[in-house]
Amino acid sequence: MQEADISSRIRTDVFGRRIRMYDVVDSTNLRAMELIRSGEDEGTLVIAEEQTAGRGRRGRSWLSEKGTNLLFSLIIKPRSEIYSPGLISLTAALAVASAVHEKYNITAECKWPNDIISRGKKFCGILPEAVIRSGRPIGVSLGIGINVNQMKFPSGISEKAVSLSLLAGNKLDRIEVLAVVLQYLETCFRKLESGLRREILDQWLKFSFQIGKHVAVNTGSKVIEGVAED
Ligand code: BTN
Repeated sequence: MQEADISSRIRTDVFGRRIRMYDVVDSTNLRAMELIRSGEDEGTLVIAEEQTAGRGRRGRSWLSEKGTNLLFSLIIKPRSEIYSPGLISLTAALAVASAVHEKYNITAECKWPNDIISRGKKFCGILPEAVIRSGRPIGVSLGIGINVNQMKFPSGISEKAVSLSLLAGNKLDRIEVLAVVLQYLETCFRKLESGLRREILDQWLKFSFQIGKHVAVNTGSKVIEGVAED
């Protein structure tokens, strides 16, 4: 993937209009957070072919074969208190799930809080990390990892992970996937900003893996069981 190719094929107004591309980086989220601290504007895309310290949720790592998938972080500037990390994750998950479903006809389900799965296996992980200054978030690095063309996964992961190419039955154009996902991300975030929070939540519910299922929620002090409704 070349930066110029990405730029020429992106169809958004703001998201991904400025690109920082790396061959190898520790973590695109760490680079994006550094940029936020130095005043970078919303929409900058940090993208890499390989991460040596890819970050996942709960201190886990994110592994991805070099030059095969999509590893990127998008800088988002929270404009109001509606931008909680939870809502950012959920909006991003909706954008990725609907992009994949509508453009590639791949069934996608959102597994709360931020996994996207298909046929019971995960193909995308989302990790928003906020930069806080004087107690307020000054920006969020919205980290997204999408398994696009990986054909094999290491043992221990292969039971749980899948790629879009395995699901589609053919290799996909990574830049096209990125361009489509950025378009959906921009549309969903603009909706959120214009007050259509309920619409985002309702759309997300349609992709939800858990709604109607028996779930157990660990609050830290106790486990509550029931059927997920909303
Ligand atoms: C998860 O499911 O645990 C979240 C994984 C998020 C991975 C992406 S890859 C690009 C960005 N940079 C990182 O270090 N992590 C996120």
